[in-house]
Amino acid sequence: MSNSTGSIPNDQHLSLNDPLKLVDQYQRHKTKLRISLTDRCNFRCLYCMPEHPVWLNKKEILTFAQLYKFCRVMVQLGITHIRLTGGEPLMRQGVVEFIQHLQQLRALGLQRISMTSNAFYLAPLAHALKQAGLDDLNISLDSLDADHFLHMTHKALQPVLAGISAALEANIALKLNCVLLKGENDQEILNLVHWAYLQQIPLRFIEYMPLDAPQHWQREKVVDEDDIIALVSQHYHVEKQQRQHDPATIYLLNQHYPLGIISTISKPFCLSCNRLRLTANGEFLSCLFSNQGGSLSDLLREPDEQALIQTILSSVWHKPAGYIAHQAAPQRKITMHNIGG
Ligand code: 5AD
Ligand code: SF4
Repeated sequence: MSNSTGSIPNDQHLSLNDPLKLVDQYQRHKTKLRISLTDRCNFRCLYCMPEHPVWLNKKEILTFAQLYKFCRVMVQLGITHIRLTGGEPLMRQGVVEFIQHLQQLRALGLQRISMTSNAFYLAPLAHALKQAGLDDLNISLDSLDADHFLHMTHKALQPVLAGISAALEANIALKLNCVLLKGENDQEILNLVHWAYLQQIPLRFIEYMPLDAPQHWQREKVVDEDDIIALVSQHYHVEKQQRQHDPATIYLLNQHYPLGIISTISKPFCLSCNRLRLTANGEFLSCLFSNQGGSLSDLLREPDEQALIQTILSSVWHKPAGYIAHQAAPQRKITMHNIGG
């Protein structure tokens, strides 16, 4: 499929039987798909939400039938891992049934169904999510101090801790995500590590990315991977692991506990990026830092799938190099709550 000009021939006849795969002009193969089920969120995280979020009109949100069709086509094209995100995915009614429906795609090659959630509404749903076939859950946890948590998210910490306990009881594999902001929660690095270490829940620190309200982000607010490791090394034996496809670099603490760091800013991993994203209204984003995505919303209503497949393959092919190439915030209206991380 590749040619020397870096474009995909648009007269090529495409069908699911062709050996066409989700590969881009830099030979990066796509196996992971993140689907935003809603842009709405009950949190207002400092690093994510604009001060006055404008929600999508409910009529614009893709139906579960459209989402399922998209997921099926993507799995047939080679996606093996689907992650449900938001906003807050648990705010979308019907999410448990949707996960149940996605189980049918395992026969076509889907291997994992995951979710990223703020866990506020998780406690009463954990068991049902597990029963429906959810494989794992990433939970945002930016502070263990109730006042500080409230300041960072505008919500109470206690329901989140209850959600984490419920997920552990339901036997859902968990990871914790913490976005560090200098001057906000960087004093809590060790506290968070000790807490997660004691419970044996893998924790990942995420460098603050320029994807929130325009002009909010400043390089000085990013806590770099090297600084985190220097601090943690004073208290644990730390061994860096070989980087795999995962965006996190894993450091083994005391030879058994995996601490991850996602360092998009200080050490971009765009060269091995294997992800694609769909927003809740059907914008297909081949890169987190893309300026705009193509809308698949109309194509997902058509019974014929050729045009849909052609658009997907072409958009993947043209995936930009990523943050590594520009080192700047994208110029666009949507912010992180539309994309789900
Ligand atoms: N920088 C880094 N990560 C972010 N997230 C949201 N906004 C940002 C940002 N500006 C991530 C958080 C959250 C997930 C949904 O998206 O880790 O857990
Ligand atoms: Fe909501 Fe997640 Fe954004 Fe926080 S980071 S406001 S929980 S979407």
